[in-house]
Amino acid sequence: MKVLAATNNAGKLKELRRILERMGHTVTSPRELGLDLDPEETGTTFAENARIKAEAFCRASGLPTVADDSGLCVEALGGAPGVYSARYCGRHGDDAANNRKLLENLAAVPEGNRAAKFVSAVCVLLPGGACHIFTGECPGRIGFAEQGTNGFGYDPLFIPDWVGLPDGATSPNAEGRTYAQLADGEKDAISHRGRAMAAMAKALPELLGGTGL
Ligand code: IMP
Repeated sequence: MKVLAATNNAGKLKELRRILERMGHTVTSPRELGLDLDPEETGTTFAENARIKAEAFCRASGLPTVADDSGLCVEALGGAPGVYSARYCGRHGDDAANNRKLLENLAAVPEGNRAAKFVSAVCVLLPGGACHIFTGECPGRIGFAEQGTNGFGYDPLFIPDWVGLPDGATSPNAEGRTYAQLADGEKDAISHRGRAMAAMAKALPELLGGTGL
């Protein structure tokens, strides 16, 4: 199926593209379609914002659309930055400033109290069809300094509890590697987005039944 990955975030697009392509879909992006669209994320939940994005991009493209809204929830910060993850520092999408602010706000928080989780809500919208939401979470903790260069966003600060193995199984993250120190497959197998997309893949045959897509 040809799907639009509804995001303007280059790091997120890369992940959505590789996960969807691994599932056998053909992926296009807003940029490739010449769509200059930045829907306002007025929702208070990841699911609401995923839906807002999917609806806007599906309406504009007429294509089956997959949108992800995601973020980092830190226990010691009462769940912040949460749905405000992309704009934690006050500007949208400044990863370096977001990471600096997170480290500053956790400066006095000891090792044992730095639990966090990444959350993803993936919305699938077929033209003229219903909206379907799938969610995924990845538990972990926040490190004391950035480590690793892969990925995007908070990846260099987030240490997942588990990592993916080449055969698709998972193992405890004994070395304490951050998301940014994982290979693509190691992250996708355990990541919030990978898990939400796996749930979507499982449900998709039924959603597509009879649509001819
Ligand atoms: P959204 O585009 O409004 O969903 O914003 C998501 C924000 O959450 C991104 O800008 C990142 O700051 C953060 N985020 C979501 N997923 C990831 C991830 O896999 N790694 C690192 N940061 C992420």
